[in-house]
Order: sequence, then structure tokens, then C-alpha cells
Amino acid sequence: MPFRLPPTVQWIAEAPAVRIVDQTLLPTQECLLDLCDVDAVAEAIRMLRVRGAPAIGCAAAAGIALAAALAPDDLAAMKAYLSWATDTLAATRPTAVNLFWALDRMRAVWESWTGDGAGLRYALSREASAIIAEDIECCRAIGRYGADLLPDGARVLTHCNAGALATAGYGTALGVIRAAVEAGKKIHVWADETRPLLQGARLTAFELVADGIPCTVLCDNMAGSLMAAGQVDCAVVGADRIARNGDTANKIGTYGVAVLCRHHGIPFYVAAPLSTVDFSIASGQEIPIEQRSPDEVAWLAGFGKQAITPPGAGIFNPAFDVTPAALITAIITDRGVAWPPFEESLRALAEKTDSPGATL
Ligand code: MRU
Repeated sequence: MPFRLPPTVQWIAEAPAVRIVDQTLLPTQECLLDLCDVDAVAEAIRMLRVRGAPAIGCAAAAGIALAAALAPDDLAAMKAYLSWATDTLAATRPTAVNLFWALDRMRAVWESWTGDGAGLRYALSREASAIIAEDIECCRAIGRYGADLLPDGARVLTHCNAGALATAGYGTALGVIRAAVEAGKKIHVWADETRPLLQGARLTAFELVADGIPCTVLCDNMAGSLMAAGQVDCAVVGADRIARNGDTANKIGTYGVAVLCRHHGIPFYVAAPLSTVDFSIASGQEIPIEQRSPDEVAWLAGFGKQAITPPGAGIFNPAFDVTPAALITAIITDRGVAWPPFEESLRALAEKTDSPGATL
């Protein structure tokens, strides 16, 4: 069941360029963009041309490989340029921890490098390619572990886009759904449209239609009545950062879905690679929440076509919210399924050595 778009993020060493699918144009235009300098990569991340926690990490890793390709040959000058590139990319979006995880992994290669500049360029190019390849492996592993949790015939609600477009490919929450379908189960997806930038309507529905997986888009404020009508069997969402106690930051509106699930007795699953778990923070209170432009709320679809608020109205536009661990049934990772209490189960999975993907 191939996804008909090319990979979300590619590192094209011979160009050199970071090639992405411009997600701001979907679903009406399928457009590849070659980002040829670090500022272009940073702009693409900030503007959500490439988005979704794992995909942002992959783009940042490729951005560092690109920086090395563009840097002077002299090793000290190259490292100074890499340091600037790392700071530039780290300043793009604060919540998705995969961005910092990927930049740290790239830094571990360049900071201690004592060979010549050409060797460092090659090593960073290989590391970026490895991070991208591992991300797809992680998603497939998440899918394998999570597929068992979805009963045949399940009607699954998801929020935002945690699919192939949010990762290097296959997806986290949509990876679980894809794997269940590949295992022969009949699945119907309810896709929250996801105000204000409509990642659910524009991107999740786009991917599912391309894969032939039945899906229905609903406005975010319709999920409650759908659950009350007995039409939802479980919810599966992605994550941008998970604290070590299991509190999970994900797209704004996720918390409301989790509360509704608890009220209606519906399992609420989070699907994410272990690289999304930030073991350095104790709870969700420490997760920085990105505030985005008021224009995203004040204009229809956020793209400046039609105003939907009067000038002078205040605008509230946090990009993420935090779902407390107590509302989460299980966290599906690339190393297995974590059940409450998450502090212990996530740590145990992180210490497993047979990971198919991420290196923590
Ligand atoms: O602001 P975005 O579009 O980058 O937010 C991404 C999300 O919150 C995703 O839905 C997600 O679940 C995390 S990435 C798999």
C-alpha cells in the first residue's frame, strides 16, 4: 500500500539540498521544495512547510549536513558555522523535542571531530541519512506494537496529523492504523480537522484517501457528540514531547479529546518514538508551549484569505496542549507499549537494547 507522495524529508547530498514536500500547499498542490541553505531550512520549519515532531528532527539533521556542505574547508571555521546553524535551527520551534534530540545527535558527531573538514562533511551526511532511515524504522515498529490494540472493525479517532507527513514516512498514530489495516483489519478513521491550521483535514485525510483507508473528517467541536453516539472505539494521537511521567504535549485540542475519551470510557492512546520522550523533565509543566501568530486564528485557514475576527479582538493561539498522564491509556513506542505508571514503563523501554530504531 504505497504512499504516493515522495518521502517527507530527503537529504540530497549531491545537490546539496534538503528536499521536502511543502505541506502548506496540501491537499491542493503536491510540491517538492529544495532548501539550499540553513536559513531556508529554518524558514520551512517555522512556517510548517515541514512539520510534525519526527519530521522536524529529520529536517534539522539534514539542515546540519547541509551546513557542513556549505561551510569553509578549515575545520575551526566549519565548526563555527555548524554552531551557528545549530542555534538557528534550534530557535525555530520550541515544543517538539525531536528537533533538539536530532541537533544533539548531529552535535555529538561534529563537536568532538578531530579529522579534516572533508571527513566531517561525510560523517554528518551519513548521520543525517541514518536519522531519516531510522525514523521510518521506528514508525514501522510503532505500527507493529500498536496494531494489536485496534480491534477489527474499530472506528478510530485521531487529531492533527501524525502520519507519513509528520515523520520520515509511515507515521506514528497513522502508522498504528496503517499496520492494523495491513494486518487485515477493517478500520474507519475519524479525522479531527484540527483548528487553526487544519492538519487533520488537509493532511491526515489526504494520506488516508491516498492509501484507500476509509476516513471521515469532522470539525473539532463534533468529537463529543460522536463519542456520545457510540461511534468511536478508541483514539490514537501522536506527540511532540512526552515528560518522563507520561504527560504528553501534542497539537492543541488533544487534551480535550482525552477528557472526552475518559468521560465516555474510550481508550486514549499516544503513539511516538522514544526520541519524543524527554527524560530530563519530570512533568508536562516543564514543556515549553509554542505561541503562534494571531493571524492563524484570525484568518480563515490561517493563510490570509478571509478575516473571521474583527480587528481589535484578542487572539489566543497556543500550538500545543498537555494531556496529563492520568488520561492516557497507553503510550505506543518503537520499543513496545508503555502502560501506567509511565515513569517506570518508559524508562524500562528506554533501557531495552533491541531497539529497531532510535538511539537514546
Ligand atoms: O504544529 P505541528 O503540525 O508540527 O504539530 C504536530 C502535531 O502535533 C502532530 O499531530 C503530532 O501528533 C506530533 S508529530 C507526529
